[in-house]
Amino acid sequence: MPPDSTSGSAFRTIIEPFKIKSVEPLRMSTRRQREAHLQAAGYNLFKLASEDVLIDLLTDSGTGAMSSEQWAGMMRGDEAYAGSSSFARFESVIRELTGYKHVIPTHQGRAAERILFAVTSGPGKVIPGNHHFDTTRANIEATGAEALDLPCEEAANASVPAPFKGNIDLARLEALLKQRAGDVPLCVMTLTDNSGGGQPVSMRNLREVRRMLNRFGVPLLIDAARFAENAMFVKLREPGHESRSPKEIAREQFSYADGCTMSAKKDGIANIGGFLALNSDAWAATARQLLILTEGFTTYGGLAGRDLEAIAQGLEEVLHEDYLRYRLRSAEYLGDGIRKAGVSIVEPPGGHAVYIDARATLPHIPPEELPGQALSCALYLEGGVRSVEIGTVMFGRTDPNTGGQVPADHDLVRLALPRRVYTQSHVDYVIEVAETMARQKAAICGYRIVSEPPALRHFSAVFEPLSKR
Ligand code: F0G
Repeated sequence: MPPDSTSGSAFRTIIEPFKIKSVEPLRMSTRRQREAHLQAAGYNLFKLASEDVLIDLLTDSGTGAMSSEQWAGMMRGDEAYAGSSSFARFESVIRELTGYKHVIPTHQGRAAERILFAVTSGPGKVIPGNHHFDTTRANIEATGAEALDLPCEEAANASVPAPFKGNIDLARLEALLKQRAGDVPLCVMTLTDNSGGGQPVSMRNLREVRRMLNRFGVPLLIDAARFAENAMFVKLREPGHESRSPKEIAREQFSYADGCTMSAKKDGIANIGGFLALNSDAWAATARQLLILTEGFTTYGGLAGRDLEAIAQGLEEVLHEDYLRYRLRSAEYLGDGIRKAGVSIVEPPGGHAVYIDARATLPHIPPEELPGQALSCALYLEGGVRSVEIGTVMFGRTDPNTGGQVPADHDLVRLALPRRVYTQSHVDYVIEVAETMARQKAAICGYRIVSEPPALRHFSAVFEPLSKR
């Protein structure tokens, strides 16, 4: 992959920093076959069989490739119900990385969220953050509390690049705390901001949040799903961090908070798992009680010993500088190619994904006719590439009176890169598919919803293409 401006390498090409030991064949398909698969799936990409997908960019969650050391760890996994040595390793890696006292394993990130908010939140409370991920928001709201996003101003304009669009708006946070600090049990900073385009948070912003919360006695928690990608962005973009290791930066990030929730399916480079880490003895004691109720005993929390091993090893590998340089460059390279193809994206590309602005790319399709759905179906039909709509299908709703769509704020399509899975030629192929789609975009038509469930409609709704105008 050609270098970015900050590659720091003597050579032009940034190579994938691994070689491939085990492979999984891809099944090629024709456009006609894909038309049939898509129709059978009700034009809903979640309902496709994965073997009918050529390049799967639906999510970077749990889809990464494990290293030989992780697989070796799987064999070493100690499956003891209590006091497993794999838990001891997991705990010590996480303590050393985060500095937090209590490490509570969970089966994935949202289980850690559910426990955290059950312990800390409830009716009348408000949980501010830079931009809560949907499961975080849902788990906050499930307790009766309010989830409040306070993204910085730069985040509002998708087409304008800024280095740290994941930052929180400190003035709005201060206004909230002055008014209602007693109702705020904690604040959450999500690194990186997945809902806003995979954008990082600066070290300075984290430090200032911490300082402000101290004035009001409010704890800070980090949603650490992509903490390592955030650390690498800080290294590459924030003055004063250039010569530090990603691990040093990550440890400083964690040092400003009182705990974290983690989906190890992202920067744990594991296929399943997560954890809650806390400094508070009181919160941890209640959390462990809840853990035993629904996840499992405190030394496995719904995971097998082998999963704990894979995560412990993954958390070390994810901080290797060569890996992170390749990782961020892959998303940037995909973004550059897609932008050149005439497709509008959220600028700059995120750490784990490129977000296409479907409304700007397909201006002839009004939001009511689901431009994000249309664009993601077109990428699949064109080249078997699976993406995910993040727009009116996911966050809008059907007006019960008119039957029409109430659009979301944005209509985006996310192309998320699984970790260590695809090579540059796969990325080049995706860019070519986007180019072909863009050349024919005038012929792409909108969609309508034929049927939908009462909640989380994007997973199972059935769609139909509207006839071309
Ligand atoms: N926090 C963030 C920032 C996330 O992106 C996710 C999951 C979670 C928490 C929940 O973690 O899936 O392990 O329960 N994001 C996935 C995605 C689903 O596709 O972006 P989980």
